[in-house]
Amino acid sequence: MLRDTQGLDVTTDSPLTIAAINRYTDQALAYGKDAVAIFKGIEADPECAIANAHAAAFYLCHECAESRFKAVPYLEAAKKYVGKATEREQLFVAAIVAWAEGEIERSIAYSEEITDKYPRDIIAVQLGQYHYFYQGNKEALLQIAEKVLPANRENHYLHGMIAFGLEQCHRLGEAEAVGRMALKMNRNDPWAQHAVAHVMEMQGRLEEGIAWMESHADTWENCNTMLYTHNWWHIALYYLEKEDIQKVLEIYDIHLWGRAWKESPKDQVGVISLLLRLELRKVNVGNRWQELVPYLKRRIHEHSLPFNDLHYIYALARAGEADLLNEMLLSMQAYANAANRFIKRTWSEVAIPTAWGIVAHAQGNWEKATLELGSTLSCLHTLGGSHAQRDLFEQVYLDAWLQRSENLSALRLLEKRVAAHRYVPSIELMYNQQKVIQLPARKAAQVAATVSPPSNLKTEEKQRITIDSDQATHWTDELSSHSQGLALAKTYARIVAMGGYIGV
Ligand SMILES: [Fe+2]
Repeated sequence: MLRDTQGLDVTTDSPLTIAAINRYTDQALAYGKDAVAIFKGIEADPECAIANAHAAAFYLCHECAESRFKAVPYLEAAKKYVGKATEREQLFVAAIVAWAEGEIERSIAYSEEITDKYPRDIIAVQLGQYHYFYQGNKEALLQIAEKVLPANRENHYLHGMIAFGLEQCHRLGEAEAVGRMALKMNRNDPWAQHAVAHVMEMQGRLEEGIAWMESHADTWENCNTMLYTHNWWHIALYYLEKEDIQKVLEIYDIHLWGRAWKESPKDQVGVISLLLRLELRKVNVGNRWQELVPYLKRRIHEHSLPFNDLHYIYALARAGEADLLNEMLLSMQAYANAANRFIKRTWSEVAIPTAWGIVAHAQGNWEKATLELGSTLSCLHTLGGSHAQRDLFEQVYLDAWLQRSENLSALRLLEKRVAAHRYVPSIELMYNQQKVIQLPARKAAQVAATVSPPSNLKTEEKQRITIDSDQATHWTDELSSHSQGLALAKTYARIVAMGGYIGV
């Protein structure tokens, strides 16, 4: 029996195995390239159950069939040798086995038990957060990290995890403070950097967000491709809202698809999400959809995460791969029909209708897109992903309403977003001429609260303002510090150009 750097007992007599577990723990928390160090630990002591469980987890988090297959021998070894392990190790092995069997609730229960009894086990906290993230359970994601804080105040990784949880719970000020504190302890913590990036994005702090992330980008060379590409994805979102499309495409080509592990589901989801957002702004993305297709063929029958599947099918639709698209939609339906009781409802009632909705959008069937997406929008959090990632589907929904020229429905959606201090995406204007918009001389929240149907308005009651770029910026300064000012103005302007209005 030896101890790791967290002070936790490990059932091994091999110093090499302990060193490998220590290295793996650090790399897993840092999203580093060298998490493969765990395999040296297994070489040194093949009977160390928890080292085998870590190796299985290393593969499972790739969320693809090939990696699930690679995890099998490590799962078998972990189960074979778990009898002589400590209680903590036994619980951890059980958590990983449950994950492999698709019993996510059971895996979470084990993570909670480990962190109750052994609060120094930060990897168990990360494991719990991972599953809560893909369940859309932001409160539990925060809670499992906060509960072990008294035992780990010196651990910057834990502060980064708490910061992300706070951000997901919309406690933005606290999230930024905790994230910055983690980075004072270690500037290189990419998850803490990322948590602060989320805050800046939610608050529309584009220039600050760019400066923040670009000033830390030098530290991402040590990251695995998932977080390397994801952190650059966040930078791309800031530039997208600044409408610096050339820069976004450059980031896509160099840092996202250019540096992606192209077979990786998580890297694929990031690039798909960005291409879709570009197209919502009427950017011609060239043959970038088609470039993804060879790598997406492996995804068609996997169904690791519904959130990921929704991205794959959109890409297949936009790439014009009708046969592959139909094959995947049928496969998703079959998977939903046969799903276990823990995930059946999410797949059948949320993922499948959303899939039909976004495919309809990809194919220009706006009416069907609004119908299907409208039925699932309020439940989309159950598919997991961050607010920033999941917001894509609401942007698609909004775009579908605008394409239908159903401006009032689009306005209602925008109202809700502004009232909730939600990020408002810029949607490309349909026309280039100046827009005339009716506005009250008051601030955004009040504007949002007073939008009324046309029948309730008299023309003379409207205050007409012609929006050009400078005016829009000035006007939107007043709107809300939490909204994307210019983007919001342009989206409103487009609605007005299409026959809508903003009333007094
Ligand atoms: Fe993120």
